[in-house]
Amino acid sequence: MKHIDIVKILKDKDHFSGQQLTLCGWARTVRSSKGICFIELNDGSAFRGIQLVIDESTCPDYALASKQGVGAALKATGTVVSSYKNPEIPEINVSSFEVLGEAPKDYPLQKKRHTLEFLRTIAHLRARTNTFNAMFRIRSALSIAIHRFFQERGFTYVHTPILTGSDCEGAGEMFRVTTLDPCKAKPAGMSDAEFYKDDFFGCKAGLTVSGQLEGETLAMALGKIYTFGPTFRAENSNTARHAAEFWQIEPEVAFAELEDLIELAEAMIKSIISDVLDNCPEEMAFFDKHYDNGLVDKLRTLVQQDFVVLEYTEAIRILQESKVQFDYPVQWGCDLQTEHERYITEKVYNKPVFVINYPAKIKSFYMKQNSDSKTVAATDLLLPGVGEIIGGSQREDNLEKLERRMKELNMEEEDYWWYLDLRRFGTAPHSGFGLGFERLLLYITGIGNIRDVAIFPRTKGNLQF
Ligand code: 4AD
Ligand code: MG
Repeated sequence: MKHIDIVKILKDKDHFSGQQLTLCGWARTVRSSKGICFIELNDGSAFRGIQLVIDESTCPDYALASKQGVGAALKATGTVVSSYKNPEIPEINVSSFEVLGEAPKDYPLQKKRHTLEFLRTIAHLRARTNTFNAMFRIRSALSIAIHRFFQERGFTYVHTPILTGSDCEGAGEMFRVTTLDPCKAKPAGMSDAEFYKDDFFGCKAGLTVSGQLEGETLAMALGKIYTFGPTFRAENSNTARHAAEFWQIEPEVAFAELEDLIELAEAMIKSIISDVLDNCPEEMAFFDKHYDNGLVDKLRTLVQQDFVVLEYTEAIRILQESKVQFDYPVQWGCDLQTEHERYITEKVYNKPVFVINYPAKIKSFYMKQNSDSKTVAATDLLLPGVGEIIGGSQREDNLEKLERRMKELNMEEEDYWWYLDLRRFGTAPHSGFGLGFERLLLYITGIGNIRDVAIFPRTKGNLQF
């Protein structure tokens, strides 16, 4: 269909002024008074739309236009002029008008403002609202910013598998993938190997929780790699920050130790947030105005700040000395709960904090064991208001130490033979982290629930679309 994207007219009004153009889009608002119909038309090419002015005395399609409802798909031809109210803003004096698809009165987006909870029930239509138009535009810009950051630094983008046999985090949160009869349970006493030998892959399979283990194999050849793809967790956590399907960015770097990883993570967060601020000013102003006053200033401050690096042991000491009555008591060896993370980032530092060197007992098998034999060279990046957005570590590159740890955790070594091979053939120090894409979007937009940053959220009990 021959037509022009609205964004082009908005960006270069002077160039198009006086020209006769055809536009397509959906009506956001329709109102008529004294023989003039005004339609706010949005085609998704920009956050904003453009106003169509249909004058009864000059446009034969006035009657048709004025009876259109919000949500109708329209095509209009007319001349670009300056808005009567603000000469900086272009609008269209329509000469001919066509309805591509009507939207009757039961179109659910009649009101100007709906609650986010209501919009979740119409996820197939919510992208037509300002909030989700802005959100998904920022989602796109953030993705590109991430690729740009890694590409500029010589990282190779790799696609790790979604179907996998290895549970990277060992937390038993893998969704199972099977073609076996779902009604047939595994007989008592039968091994997994025996039961799954007739399954599609001839072994137990699931959806990946992380591309890290496969990513490590590529870093051991390509040096610096990153993944950017969907990961899945059958976590029973019904919170505002947990989704069953979420996107993760997982860089893995050969010849990098924990401090190199922290430097990389800090540079990445600052670079991609700056990119979004530069590239999505209207969308960010919208979230600042409607959802989180001061958001843009908060992000501008963040990209100027030095992030804090805090030993886990020190974090425990701070929490214990705080005299705050936490729901979960604090002692060395405990996992940090959201309330602890929030206290540290919001009350103590009010900036991003890398907590480092966690107790081995609460972290995954692959993390580099420190010489104190109690802690591992791991780090979580905590952000005020959101909590953990990054989890990473230096990897255990010593074969015996890794095997010993896997035995302690009753892991089957033969399931990981290829992972252990990396420690047999040309092993080297290496490190990586996983950034939760939706968690970062929560922080950047000031939105409080992961269900409102994912396009079609998948959470426990929710897979409607
Ligand atoms: O801390 P996690 O579990 O680390 C890993 O998976 C490592 N294998 C990453 C690596 O080193 N390559 O997860 C990484 C990040 C978390 O910090 C969090 O931001 C996000 O993934 N995340 C979730 N986001 C949304 N919903 C969930 N259920 C999430 N679980 C983790
Ligand atoms: Mg984690």
